[in-house]
Amino acid sequence: MKKFAVNFLTAPLLLALSLTAAGAEFPDPARPTVLITGSNANYGLAFVEEYNKLGWNIIATCRTPTEADKLNALAAASPNIVVEELDIMDDAEIAALAEKYRGVPIDVLLNNAAINAYRHGMSTFGNIDYAWFEKILRVNIIGPLKVSEAFQEHVQASKQKTIVALTSTGGSITNQTMPVNVGYSASKAGLNMAMKNLAIYMRNKGVIVSILAPGSIDTEDYMNAADPETVPPLYQRMIKAGRLVPRTAINDMIGLIDRLTLDDSGVYYNWDGSVLPW
Ligand SMILES: NC(=O)c1ccc[n+]([C@@H]2O[C@H](COP(=O)([O-])OP(=O)(O)OC[C@H]3O[C@@H](n4cnc5c(N)ncnc54)[C@H](OP(=O)(O)O)[C@@H]3O)[C@@H](O)[C@H]2O)c1
Repeated sequence: MKKFAVNFLTAPLLLALSLTAAGAEFPDPARPTVLITGSNANYGLAFVEEYNKLGWNIIATCRTPTEADKLNALAAASPNIVVEELDIMDDAEIAALAEKYRGVPIDVLLNNAAINAYRHGMSTFGNIDYAWFEKILRVNIIGPLKVSEAFQEHVQASKQKTIVALTSTGGSITNQTMPVNVGYSASKAGLNMAMKNLAIYMRNKGVIVSILAPGSIDTEDYMNAADPETVPPLYQRMIKAGRLVPRTAINDMIGLIDRLTLDDSGVYYNWDGSVLPW
């Protein structure tokens, strides 16, 4: 049997390999690897669950691992998931995590973490909280860009070579028809521009940058609730209006991410593969 040679190429990888609670080697070099930001809740958690079913290595990052009960439960049951602390506004944490995984190929870097104003309150004209506006711009634009810069070599060293930024249809300037939620919309339009720039920059390196709007997906399984009265009113309205799409849309996005080529880099995609206008 051929021995695994330790040389200057493999040494960083071996340094980065660690053991999970179950005693397995992580990340398993035979499996593709995804790093997901904000993976303790909602979309981030749903992506962890689905990539786990597909057998990927998952570097599941979140701000407060000690409070990430659902994520920790998933990680305890799977040697493929390691939970790491990462606040995407903390430069030192970003640099330390990138260094920890130096030499480890990351096939998909999934920039999911954001302030989602639809969950945490909006800002409307006449009532704009400018301190909050500045914060949402920093978290939703600068955060994913810094994480992408820090992990660009990890992605470049992988097979799939894909950076994904979860944006929103609300980032479309063309489709903006109502003067609501200006902070969130501006943050996602700004993210789109930042990621379009990154796509152009990364093209020569063979790295795909996907600007992907996830839509309103039923990550909480509200559509299958036995008692519709237990569903929060916002989601009851969305279900009635046909605006909530089934949980399987997460798998559709994973399939879409898998199929992307360099020709799709910098394209503003909706979760169903349709192209959105800027
Ligand atoms: N849900 C939708 O219908 C929808 C529609 C369009 C686009 N999106 C986009 O999809 C992504 C996920 O949305 P979601 O609905 O799952 O949002 P969410 O429920 O509000 O979750 C956001 C996640 O981001 C994390 N986060 C916030 N600030 C962070 C920071 N500074 N550093 C690290 N993590 C941070 C949160 O962590 P904590 O728990 O620690 O706060 C949480 O894990 C976002 O980019 C959102 O804009 C969602």
